[in-house]
Amino acid sequence: MRENGNIAVFDSGVGGISVLRALVEELPHERFSYFGDSANAPYGEKSEAQIMRLTHGHVENLIDHGAKAVVIACNTATSVAGASLREAYPDTLFIGVEPALKPAAEAYPGGSILVMATPVTLALEKYHELAMTFDDTCTIHAVACPELADRIEQGKLDAPDLRDLIESYVGSYRGKVDAVVLGCTHYPFVVPAIREVLGDVEFFDGGAGTARQLKRRLTAMNELAPDTQPGAVEFSSSLDTPEEYALYDELFSMDL
Ligand code: DGL
Repeated sequence: MRENGNIAVFDSGVGGISVLRALVEELPHERFSYFGDSANAPYGEKSEAQIMRLTHGHVENLIDHGAKAVVIACNTATSVAGASLREAYPDTLFIGVEPALKPAAEAYPGGSILVMATPVTLALEKYHELAMTFDDTCTIHAVACPELADRIEQGKLDAPDLRDLIESYVGSYRGKVDAVVLGCTHYPFVVPAIREVLGDVEFFDGGAGTARQLKRRLTAMNELAPDTQPGAVEFSSSLDTPEEYALYDELFSMDL
């Protein structure tokens, strides 16, 4: 494995920052390089061929820069390109994300669980296999939310139009579900708006599980940064503007 000691974190845009926050909490001594492909977001409404091409292109670049591990902090890119990336770069440690159905199903046996994700994630066989593992222990409702990730890319997360968009997707589930699985890494940033629509439900996202998995794998490979190393986070984006970086910073430090 070529190494510069950094961990690369990749998403279609700002969404993976929700995963990055969990990574930094779990692994405070690591150096993270975050890349968001905001110029091409959203991925969740593109063809599989487009997602594959974009993801492989960006990941190749991250590996060329010597990352010791790559976190695909995007459910859509993991579902479409995770397996082919592992095949193409067998010496690189990849950690992907998937909808956190397992912890939600374990917390609510016999319960009713709403999964929100991009159209591409929910259309793929990978999701259906995951859902089949749990659908005899709970009732799963999957709702594709086209436009939501794109709207989050624009910021202004407390605007009424955002709440209205969420209402149009999941308003009919108010009072009918116990838990919500956020199957897109953008969605943790709009939990307050989803809560306004759905009321008192518990939220599950893949961030903490992804961070624990990365820590386990780095520990097993003896690749953890030493406790003496100060951690660091560096952002880059294909939408290389001051406004975009201001949004990245805002989401990284926002109270959730
Ligand atoms: N954040 C990504 C995910 O977890 C996708 C959002 C998008 O670009 O559509 O699925």
